[in-house]
Amino acid sequence: MSGNRISGLGSHQLSRRRVLELGLGAGAALVGSALLPRGAWASGLPSTPIRFQPFTRELPTIANGQLTVLKSQPAFATGCTFPVTAKPSFYAITMKRAQAEIIPGVKTEIWGYDGLYPGPVIVSRMGTPDVIRFANELDVETSIHQHGGHNPSDSDGLPMRDQLIFPGQSKDYCYPNQPSTGPDGRPDPNDNPSFLWYHDHATDITGPNVYRGLAGVYPVVDELESGLIAAGKLPEVGSAFDLPLVLQDRLFNADGSLFYSPFEHDGFLGDVFVVNGKAQPFHVVQRRKYRLRILNGSNARIYMLRLSSGARFLQIGADRWLFPHPVERDRILLGMAEVADVIVDFGAQQPGDVVYLENILVQDSGRGPGGDLNAPDVRVPGTPLVKFVVAGGQPAGDLSISRTEPLRPITPISPGEIVATRTFEFNRSQGAWQVNGQFYDEDRADAQVKLGTAERWILKNGGGGWWHPIHIHLENHLVQRFNGRPPPVYNSFKKDTTLLGPGDEAEVFIRFRDHAGRFVAHCHNVEHEDDRMMIRWDTVAP
Ligand code: C2O
Ligand code: CU
Ligand code: CU
Repeated sequence: MSGNRISGLGSHQLSRRRVLELGLGAGAALVGSALLPRGAWASGLPSTPIRFQPFTRELPTIANGQLTVLKSQPAFATGCTFPVTAKPSFYAITMKRAQAEIIPGVKTEIWGYDGLYPGPVIVSRMGTPDVIRFANELDVETSIHQHGGHNPSDSDGLPMRDQLIFPGQSKDYCYPNQPSTGPDGRPDPNDNPSFLWYHDHATDITGPNVYRGLAGVYPVVDELESGLIAAGKLPEVGSAFDLPLVLQDRLFNADGSLFYSPFEHDGFLGDVFVVNGKAQPFHVVQRRKYRLRILNGSNARIYMLRLSSGARFLQIGADRWLFPHPVERDRILLGMAEVADVIVDFGAQQPGDVVYLENILVQDSGRGPGGDLNAPDVRVPGTPLVKFVVAGGQPAGDLSISRTEPLRPITPISPGEIVATRTFEFNRSQGAWQVNGQFYDEDRADAQVKLGTAERWILKNGGGGWWHPIHIHLENHLVQRFNGRPPPVYNSFKKDTTLLGPGDEAEVFIRFRDHAGRFVAHCHNVEHEDDRMMIRWDTVAP
């Protein structure tokens, strides 16, 4: 099975769907999860974990230049049309192979947007459309999804034949970045996002493509957020005090190459924790408040985050959106694709103190961690992900955000607006993954919704001990009830991904604004997604 090694795969790896179509699915699933204990199937698995000294490399940030901010280009001819006259920003990104130093002193081949892992940071302004020309210099097809974005169907980066970018081709993605119109016909800034990300979404091979490095962050600012920044409540985007943290886990071969198995249908886990492309980095902080935008960019790993100092997080947002007001948290459970937008205050620390951002969740299988959503299996102290070293000296100013700061209001969806209720049950079948007993088929619409209406969707975990973070494209959703009860306050605001533990059920309201066409919803365990735990749903004009 050494052919499982990414480095050993040819240009056309056997995708999971192809494995299933060849009738190898059940067998492969058995090899992956039942016949042999985990660790054994993989005679191809690295026999010894790669060894390195943690906390010897700096956390890549925008301020230290290790996270590159994408520069705009002179305008080029494009097929993009926008309903507004605002002048777009033009960008170009090439997807290609490159070498990265993820493990200190070790070169690893990655696939990166512009050869970078993570991809360049795209800083965007609400009201200014973005046109991005993505060129594919890899040898597999790609599709680029702006996760959390509100975009026309043909720019959504769907796993659909007519949306794929084949090797040697390029495609222009048209992101309008327009605040939508509220019920009164005026722009409604309440749905404006703060922190999108972009990642590969190619049919069947999203897992390996993202794993090899095809993901990056996409912060967005609008007037409301600029106001909070101008008032000194939030830091300047991209400044030393606004840190995106992309959490991922990876497995390495002894030679430093990435290891991935397309046969791991349960979800692929790594044993090295990587933040912004570096294995367990450190970062020197001042004695003041920081905004950390923590994205779980892992394929199948769920995190429970805590600060080793015992200090609390002041959570100001989740997924792509700011909360109406901050919420204090001791620990934060973060499923794949979820974001915790938090303020962390190092003001009470002494010079030289060390504070770790730790993951205390125990998870040894792609199935998910042990326990359930309310009582997950945690171990303190956990694995340190980032080491923050507190510097001496006077901090350069501080944020004035208070515990009750009004942030971004929510336009509620009332039960009276609901025109339809749909139930989607996520379950395992035939060694792969289904929704309502069916595999994803891009040619079959599983739901058709009318623009200008709101619906109730029941998202149900079919059980079996599996965890599924359910992601819905195009629109955010408001969780009304979780297992029949109101959700905890931090999960009661706008979300685009809702984590379901074994047997859980979420009732969510969604308002469909504009953009008629095809969209998807799926489990964001990307191995489950590649194994077809996805629906296509369409929006139609009223
Ligand atoms: Cu982040 Cu459809 O995915
Ligand atoms: Cu999405
Ligand atoms: Cu899943």
